[in-house]
Amino acid sequence: MESVISNNYILKNGVSIKNRILKSAMSEALGNHQYLPTEGLYRLYEQWADGGTGLLITGNVMIDRKALGEPRNVVVEDDKVLPFLEKWAEKGTKNNTQLWMQLNHPGKQAFKGAVKESVAPSAIPFEGKISRFFHKPREMKKEEIVDSIKRFGYSALLAKKSGFTGVQIHGAHGYLISQFLSPRHNQRKDEWGGDINGRMKFLIEIYREIRKQTGESFPISVKLNSADFMKAGFTEDESIYTALMLEKEGVDLLEISGGTYESSPMAKMNQKSSTKIREAYFMDYAEKLRQTVKIPLCVTGGFRSVTGMENALNSNAMDFVGLARPLAIYPDLPNLFANQSINEIRIDQRKTGIRFIDELGMLEITWYAQQLRRLAKGRKTRPQYPVIFSFLQALAKNGKEIFIKQRSGI
Ligand SMILES: Cc1cc2nc3c(=O)[nH]c(=O)nc-3n(C[C@H](O)[C@H](O)[C@H](O)COP(=O)(O)O)c2cc1C
Repeated sequence: MESVISNNYILKNGVSIKNRILKSAMSEALGNHQYLPTEGLYRLYEQWADGGTGLLITGNVMIDRKALGEPRNVVVEDDKVLPFLEKWAEKGTKNNTQLWMQLNHPGKQAFKGAVKESVAPSAIPFEGKISRFFHKPREMKKEEIVDSIKRFGYSALLAKKSGFTGVQIHGAHGYLISQFLSPRHNQRKDEWGGDINGRMKFLIEIYREIRKQTGESFPISVKLNSADFMKAGFTEDESIYTALMLEKEGVDLLEISGGTYESSPMAKMNQKSSTKIREAYFMDYAEKLRQTVKIPLCVTGGFRSVTGMENALNSNAMDFVGLARPLAIYPDLPNLFANQSINEIRIDQRKTGIRFIDELGMLEITWYAQQLRRLAKGRKTRPQYPVIFSFLQALAKNGKEIFIKQRSGI
């Protein structure tokens, strides 16, 4: 690769990332019934590590088995998981690839089929069409908040012990941390709520606990929303302020994304002509953010061509290009870019054309999750696979449960 994409990047702790492509988290749901990693997961990560990506962020791994996002998540909460994580880390770090584990607690954004009850900063249920997929949450007790913080730290320690080269805290997309950040979802009157400093405390304390447990030189990233795109939600100004505080704390890499299950901006933004030209959904925000913080930045969402990625990197607004869906179809995309066998990929929106199915919004994710499962089984992906077949296949296999088993795509 002669392009800027192939330049390596050295973090402040000296860790070197061999190029500027970051595989963004994609929930694999490839754990077994004890929530342990499986052979399929190792096979999938070996393909990504062989495919030339510099930094692989895993799909979200849960810190508490009572708080799954979906069935078959991997849970890291005790050292029984270590031998399985070691195998995963061995495959995912091949070819000098960085492998960082994304840690998550879903809060109230846990599908009914996955949890008995759900918790949130405040007992505020989701509104609108999606509310039927989720329990009405219970407000977290103070001791539960402290317990969650400790769990994030301990899971990170287990990741480090087993050979993962870093971790990422999932602070985006409407999960528990993002619920704490949002004034719409966090209406607590104690020190964990109130103004942005109070709402940010949960995230900051998680970062500090992970740092305490893993040491000064272990890379810690945060995935943060540029905004929730919700009325009375987490705003862009609050996001910039949070990023500034995270930089002061010493976070090594910030990944920018946006939206929640209640409001996914991606479909809409994809249609904006300025976004189409620049590809990335959150580029304008990154440019603003760059004026405030110097922390290494990754922007994720919408990148599809070498030119789009090079322009974004050359603008100096960001340091890494985050890719998710393209790498679910082409796990070796960075190598294909490097040897110039592909310069651009087209990713159509996965729709059946049948309105009531498309409106459920779950299909896109079902389609991509099926591609990941093909790779996990050692099969080739099927970029042209018709979305209606994917829907019928999922329906035949899981019945109506597919709508509660699969996530909405972010
Ligand atoms: C199948 C699938 C699963 C996903 N799971 C996660 C996840 O576990 N954690 C997360 O932060 N984002 C998750 N995402 C969102 C992606 O990381 C990314 O932010 C989004 O797909 C936009 O990037 P793209 O346009 O390159 O696909 C998922 C996306 C897909 C398609």
